[in-house]
Amino acid sequence: MLRADAVDASYGEGLALSGVSVELPAGALVCLMGRNGVGKTTLLRTLAGVLRPRRGRVWLDGQDATRWPTWRRARAGLSYVPQGRGIFPQLTVRENLLLGLEAGTRRDSTALDDALATFPALGSLLRQAAGTLSGGQQQQLAIARALAARPRWLLLDEPTEGVQPSIVAEIEAALIRVRKGGHTAILLVEQYLAFALRLADRYYVMERGTVVDHGAIAGIDRSGVEARLAL
Ligand SMILES: Nc1ncnc2c1ncn2[C@@H]1O[C@H](COP(=O)(O)OP(=O)(O)OP(=O)(O)O)[C@@H](O)[C@H]1O
Ligand SMILES: [Mg+2]
Repeated sequence: MLRADAVDASYGEGLALSGVSVELPAGALVCLMGRNGVGKTTLLRTLAGVLRPRRGRVWLDGQDATRWPTWRRARAGLSYVPQGRGIFPQLTVRENLLLGLEAGTRRDSTALDDALATFPALGSLLRQAAGTLSGGQQQQLAIARALAARPRWLLLDEPTEGVQPSIVAEIEAALIRVRKGGHTAILLVEQYLAFALRLADRYYVMERGTVVDHGAIAGIDRSGVEARLAL
């Protein structure tokens, strides 16, 4: 279980997160929703260790990881795909995938095959510089790289943003496969409620740096959440 407990975070004066608590149970797919600027990315950065919380704690399987650097969280099984993908454009697709393995808990050769099994189309692009791929392909590469480490927890920040529909469908299918595998829990930031409703077990909705609604997808008040997401 990955858990944030009463986390405050800021970039300067005001608080970007205020008393935020979330849980990502083993094997679950949890969706984090909210309008632009409410703190979704800030929460993921705090969970991944890119940003230190001012108050509160981050727990990984019962261990207090609040002060752990990013690499230690990665070794413990946490993978993070940032908004905007965070791939290395000058490196080849293959090199990007291998870097993902370095960061995580696996170094065996089958991990690369596993990464390509997620998105087989990447197999024909291995020697290409990652920066020459389409936006959707880069997103697939970023997800494949994160998954190649066989994470226990995967943080995905708006993986469908600006991605063409055919690739959105491939990403959705891949997330469903990961979830069925049962090894990796996913915390998915997603603006589209319909996408979240199809995939997730549980959800959180944020507004202005706090969690304002959460629960099981089965019991979601759809119109209430839609109102919170509307501009
Ligand atoms: N690097 C930064 N420096 C200063 N303020 C920041 C920084 N990044 C984000 N913020 C501010 O923190 C708040 C939360 O931003 P965050 O990026 O977490 O929102 P978000 O929910 O991910 O939004 P979006 O849907 O646009 O991705 C916003 O008010 C934003 O302006
Ligand atoms: Mg964001």
